[in-house]
Formats: sequence, structure tokens, C-alpha cells
Amino acid sequence: MKYIIISILLVISLFASEEIGIKWESNKNCEACHMDISNKWETSRHANSHFSKNDLFKKSLIYIVEKKPTLILDELIIDCAKCHNPRVTKSKISDEDKLSLLIGDNNTAYAYNKSLNSKNMQNGVNCVVCHNIDKIHLDKTVGSRGMHDITFGSQGTMFGPFADSDSPYHKSEQREHFTNNSPKLCFACHFGAKNHQGLEVYSTGKEYDRFSKDNNETVEGCSSCHMSEKKQGFASNYAKVGEKPKSRMVRKHYFASVNNSDIMADYVEVKNSIQDNELVINIKNNTPHKIPTGYGLREITISVSYFDKQDKEVGEERYTLAAKWKDEKGNLTIPYLAKSMASDTRLDGKSNKNYRFSIPKKAAYGKYSLSYRFIGKDMGKILNVTDTFFLKEYIFDKQEVHF
Ligand code: HEC
Ligand code: HEC
Ligand code: HEC
Ligand code: HEC
Ligand code: HEC
Repeated sequence: MKYIIISILLVISLFASEEIGIKWESNKNCEACHMDISNKWETSRHANSHFSKNDLFKKSLIYIVEKKPTLILDELIIDCAKCHNPRVTKSKISDEDKLSLLIGDNNTAYAYNKSLNSKNMQNGVNCVVCHNIDKIHLDKTVGSRGMHDITFGSQGTMFGPFADSDSPYHKSEQREHFTNNSPKLCFACHFGAKNHQGLEVYSTGKEYDRFSKDNNETVEGCSSCHMSEKKQGFASNYAKVGEKPKSRMVRKHYFASVNNSDIMADYVEVKNSIQDNELVINIKNNTPHKIPTGYGLREITISVSYFDKQDKEVGEERYTLAAKWKDEKGNLTIPYLAKSMASDTRLDGKSNKNYRFSIPKKAAYGKYSLSYRFIGKDMGKILNVTDTFFLKEYIFDKQEVHF
């Protein structure tokens, strides 16, 4: 008995960071007063960054552990949690714990399971991840390290854009990383990061910076596109007793991606023309980063089909904008295990390009569509991803052209 208690205490004492109190652990704690913000956030990928809610993430973890037998699952989860769940109470696994987990020690397994599956962890990159951030100290030469680039404030203080916020539920303080559409907050996780082989696998912020440096101008930040423009509204639907909610300039908390917005149609322009015997599709990227950016297995596909006068299909062609990743044997793999990039056809920020498709002689007209996928078919199969959310094509433009 004594031994069990000591070993439980030991395990608990090895958890470094403070656990989040039940008043702050999930967006449900904020919903009563910040209803619209909470509803929009729930549609975002930030709400799905825990492996229990994300088939692609979960299957990636399993795949990596299969390929790297010296790693154990909990160790990997903690490593990825830096950005995916930065309120994780543990930032490193000790050798003793690893051994205990390997030999199947129940107490250790229980403690890890409880910590890595807590309600707060399952809630993902949630309200108290961003709004409890007091300071950000990103070193751009090192890249994003999520929780290691952040100093959290005391629990119960919400940092935000206002100097005069007054809430009955929590303390409020203004921080500059919530004002002026600054990308700094986003950069703690989205600037760029290398895998364990030293290969850069996320580079959205770097792409953005390179662009702004090249063009000697400051670009627009991230929130105007991924949240919304500032609009007149309310930050809270309740105020202190006897007071009315203040009218405020606010943004929507979509963290827009292709599944919950028209972000592609809004910022990616597609035009077509016919030159000689070619159908020319011009894509103009109005974003300050590559398209697709971010997680290295996203794909944008141009699909063209040709038809004769009798509407019979007489040809088709495809072109994909994506990065491909190779392991040391030269086989296709996921970014985290890659040794090098095999190819990269993504389109640079604020640039445009012509994609040419030769028109078959018999064709009377053609149809084309542009679509976005969270993961390409091949890699989806390799990882055994089954959730159709990731596999389906999100079509954002479709046209018919007569020759
Ligand atoms: C009982 C109502 C209530 C609850 C519950 C509540 N808030 Fe608030 N919150 C407010 C009010 C009122 C304001 C001030 C709004 C204003 O001044 O326009 C506010 C302001 C804020 C601000 C802006 C702070 C600033 O200085 O800019 C943030 C961020 C915030 N809340 C986050 C949260 C989070 C996260 C939770 C859940 C953990 C939460 N709130 C729960 C009522 C609440
Ligand atoms: C604490 C780390 C962290 C911070 C800070 C952060 N993000 Fe994220 N973000 C993530 C993670 C992790 C994901 C991927 C979640 C998933 O799908 O598993 C993500 C996903 C996204 C996505 C969706 C990408 C997709 O896969 O479709 C967008 C858009 C986004 N973030 C924008 C932002 C913006 C804008 C900011 C700044 C206001 C920001 N993020 C701040 C960690 C962060
Ligand atoms: C990825 C980081 C991130 C997450 C997660 C996040 N917010 Fe925010 N929030 C921001 C940013 C950035 C702003 C400042 C927007 C602006 O005005 O430019 C903001 C602003 C606010 C404001 C002030 C009103 C406004 O629109 O400016 C409130 C209140 C707020 N957030 C509450 C919440 C609540 C509640 C949640 C959880 C449901 C949440 N936030 C999740 C980044 C985040
Ligand atoms: C002019 C609008 C615009 C601005 C500004 C912008 N983005 Fe984007 N962003 C987009 C569009 C459109 C997409 C979808 C295409 C893609 O995946 O690249 C996108 C995609 C993303 C994705 C990947 C989404 C996915 O599904 O994988 C992330 C992450 C992201 N942006 C983060 C950022 C960050 C961080 C900033 C600021 C440094 C930023 N964006 C600035 C328009 C914008
Ligand atoms: C430096 C911060 C960071 C670390 C560390 C990190 N990620 Fe991510 N991850 C992100 C961001 C940011 C996104 C969203 C990117 C986007 O789509 O643009 C993301 C997205 C993903 C996605 C796509 C999820 C979706 O819903 O489509 C997978 C899968 C993923 N990460 C796996 C992992 C794994 C596995 C690890 C650990 C080996 C890991 N990540 C470590 C920042 C990080």
C-alpha cells in the first residue's frame, strides 16, 4: 500500500505545469456570456486539435510510433502537445516514466491517461490557451515551439484587446498581441517548425515574413481573413448587474479554414482564357502565405474534363498544388518523418501563375473545377485515415468553357 501511494505521489510530482481549474477548463465555461464567440470557435480546427477528436492526427501518431519503435505513444503525444494542446501539464517524459509505461505499470498509465485526456486537453486550442497568454517570446531563428514560446498569466485573468473590459466572472487585462491585427500570437504555433531530422514542415509565418520583407511593406496580419474584419457588436452578451453590454468593435472567432468559410473563394482568384490550343487557368493567391500552406499534406487540385458536341467525354487532366515528402529510402511519407522534400508545387504568397492544359482536337467544350483536400488520397490511404472530413474534396470554383 505504502509503495503504491509513494509511486502515485512520484508520478504526480513529475507533472510540471499547473492543471487548469474547472472554472476555465473548456469553452463551455465561457459560453453563457460569449455565446457567439464560443459557437464560431467550435467550428474551427482549433476545437479539434486533440487526438480524440481528430482522425488524421490520431492516425499520424499511430503511424509515427509504428515507424519509430523507440518512441512510445504518450511521449509523442506530449511532444506534439506543445502546439496542439499547450496547456498539457507535462512537457517531457522522464526515463523512469517511460520504463514504467513500457512494462505496463498501471499507476503510471492511469496518471498519463488522466492527464493527456483531461477535459481541458480534449477542448484543444481553446479560450484559455490564447486568452491566458501574458507574454510571447518567439525566437524566429528557432521557430515555433508553442507552449515554450508562451508565458501564461495567472488563471482567471483573461488577456484581450480592450483596456477597459469589466467582467463579473474573470479579471481582464489588455495585451498588445491582441491589438492591431498583430500576427505575433499566431506565430507562437504557426511561424514555422522543423521535424526531428531538421527539415522545416510548417512555415506559414516564415512565408508571410519573407513576403513582407521582399516587398518592403507590412501585410495585413492574420485575423482580418481568418477571423473577420472588425464589426460593431458585443464582446459579451452579459455585463455586471445593473449595467448593459458595451457596444464594441469585434471579430468573429472562426479561425476560418475551407470547411467553415468561403476563404478560398474570397482570397484566391481563378480566371480562364484560351490561348492557341490551350486552356489557361490563372490562379491568383491574394494571401500573404503559400497556398496550400501550413500542415504539409494539404492539396489544391485543378481538374479539367473535355467533351465533344455529343457530350461524350474525350479527355481529362489534373494538376495538383502540394508538397510531397520523402524518407531516407526515398519513399513517400508524412512531413514529421521526412528526410527531404520530394517536390513542392504550392503557389507563393501574393503571386499568380498560369496553368496550361492542352485541348484535345475533338473537344467542343471543357469543364474545370478547383478543389481543396485536407490530405491527398495517397497519403490518406497510407495513414489509413477513414473520416471523410479529411478525404473529401471541397470544391471552391467550377466553370464551363466553350472552345
Ligand atoms: C458571467 C459572464 C462571463 C463569463 C462566464 C465569461 N466572461 Fe469573459 N467577459 C465578460 C464581460 C462582461 C466582459 C467585458 C466585455 C466588454 O467590456 O465589452 C468580458 C471580457 C472578456 C475578454 C476581453 C478581455 C479584454 O481585456 O480585452 C476575454 C478575452 C474574455 N472575456 C474571455 C473569457 C473566457 C475565456 C471565459 C471562459 C473561461 C469567459 N470570458 C467567461 C463576461 C463573462
Ligand atoms: C497554441 C498554438 C496555436 C496558436 C497560438 C494559434 N494556432 Fe491556429 N492552429 C493550431 C493547431 C495545433 C492547429 C491544427 C489543429 C488541428 O487541426 O489539429 C491550428 C489550426 C489553425 C487553422 C486551420 C488550419 C487547418 O488545418 O485548416 C487556422 C486557419 C489557424 N489555426 C489560424 C490561427 C490564427 C489566425 C491564429 C492567431 C490569431 C492562430 N491560429 C493561433 C495552433 C495554434
Ligand atoms: C487562437 C487564439 C484564440 C482563441 C482560441 C480564442 N480567441 Fe478570443 N481572441 C483572439 C484574438 C486574436 C482576439 C482579438 C481580435 C481583434 O479584435 O483583433 C480575440 C478577441 C476576443 C474577445 C474580445 C472581442 C473581440 O472580438 O475582439 C473575447 C471576448 C474573446 N476573444 C473570447 C474568446 C472565447 C470565449 C474563446 C473560446 C470560445 C476565444 N476567445 C478563443 C484569439 C483567440
Ligand atoms: C488575405 C487573407 C489571408 C491572410 C492575411 C492570411 N491568410 Fe491564412 N489562409 C488564407 C486562405 C485563403 C487559406 C486557404 C488556402 C490554404 O490552405 O493555403 C489560408 C490558409 C491558412 C492555413 C491553413 C489552412 C488549412 O486548411 O490547412 C493556416 C494555418 C493559415 N492560413 C494561417 C495564417 C496565418 C498564421 C496568417 C498570418 C501570419 C494568415 N494565415 C494570413 C487567407 C489568408
Ligand atoms: C510548432 C507547433 C506544432 C507542433 C510541435 C506540432 N504541430 Fe501539428 N499542427 C500545427 C499547426 C499550426 C497545424 C495547422 C496547420 C495548418 O493546417 O496549417 C497543425 C496540423 C497538424 C495536422 C493536421 C490536422 C488536421 O486537422 O488536419 C496533423 C495531422 C498534425 N498537425 C500532426 C502533428 C503531429 C503528429 C505532431 C507531433 C509529432 C505535431 N503535429 C506537432 C502545429 C504543430
